[in-house]
Amino acid sequence: MTRLRVGCVGTGFIAGQHLRALAGFDDVEVVAVADTVLERAQQAADRSGGRAYGDGLTLLDSEDLDAVWLCVPPFAHGALETAAIAHGVPFFVEKPLGLDLPAAQELADQVSASGLTTAVGYHWRHLEVVHRAAELLARTPAQLVTGYWLDKTPAVPWWPQRAYSGSQVIEQTTHVFDLARTLAGEVASVAAAERAASDGRGDVPAAASALLRFVSGAVGSISSARVLGWRHRVALHVVAEGLVVELSERGLTDHELRVVTAHGEEVLRSDQDPIRTEDREFLDVLLGRAAQVRVPYHEALRTHALACAADRSARDGRPVGLPDPEGR
Ligand SMILES: NC(=O)c1ccc[n+]([C@@H]2O[C@H](COP(=O)([O-])OP(=O)(O)OC[C@H]3O[C@@H](n4cnc5c(N)ncnc54)[C@H](O)[C@@H]3O)[C@@H](O)[C@H]2O)c1
Repeated sequence: MTRLRVGCVGTGFIAGQHLRALAGFDDVEVVAVADTVLERAQQAADRSGGRAYGDGLTLLDSEDLDAVWLCVPPFAHGALETAAIAHGVPFFVEKPLGLDLPAAQELADQVSASGLTTAVGYHWRHLEVVHRAAELLARTPAQLVTGYWLDKTPAVPWWPQRAYSGSQVIEQTTHVFDLARTLAGEVASVAAAERAASDGRGDVPAAASALLRFVSGAVGSISSARVLGWRHRVALHVVAEGLVVELSERGLTDHELRVVTAHGEEVLRSDQDPIRTEDREFLDVLLGRAAQVRVPYHEALRTHALACAADRSARDGRPVGLPDPEGR
């Protein structure tokens, strides 16, 4: 059997989820892992196999790979993607694509010129409950969308600093913006506001709220807060003609779809592992067993552009328009 030789750069929380998924596939071999904290890379190599590097660029220069997973924080994007492209290595990259839009746009141009297969970790797209919600809303379009990411401040040191994470909107709530695009279509404009942090733990706002106008004419709002001691609600609620669709996430493998109509209510709980599903899909495309990934780089760029527009509007206090995907 052909075993794909893969590497992973960044060996923190989400890399651990991907490496666990990859360990479950018998057509993949993890040959190298890298982290700027070498001990962390070594621990990951001890669990997953392969050589440990203290630098992802050296890994990409030294190894002959069929694919690489880039699981680094927002501030670390750029050189790794460029190196993967230069070596002709298809890559899976975790969201967000970077701290801001211009650098990600530049990488998107490099990706499309290279023709390489890429995939981005907007994992909700792989959930069967999301596919079910999309079917319902394809028949009965969204009129109103309300989304939430109401949580604690993550414990990783880079997160509370805008210069390292972008912001909560760019780093976390981007999943909810992505789900809004998936279920209600493209957004034409966004007007947002934010409340500054006052806890002395970085400059990522305590809360932010964005008002959206969709190309379809639907309207919506998506709000973020990081001031709780617990994860309270990560969800998107959609109201259509005679239909309410509510999706929520309690953990990576804990999702719920609630559908309400005049005839009653249906609740679907899901323990599907979307990380495994997205990794399998990417590998199947590389092996020629599937035609395309659900979220290639250029598709994720649209969601990143939306989250960055919401963040920019909140900072500047002015509405931000988004380019029409059809060029109208
Ligand atoms: N899809 C999801 O649901 C999901 C969930 C969690 C995190 N993420 C994303 O994954 C990314 C990483 O998050 P995390 O929770 O794993 O963070 P983390 O802090 O746990 O891990 C990041 C690791 O990357 C390493 N690192 C930093 N810069 C590096 C570089 N230049 N080269 C190599 N290693 C480097 C750090 O030392 C750390 O070990 C973030 O962008 C986050 O948004 C996605």
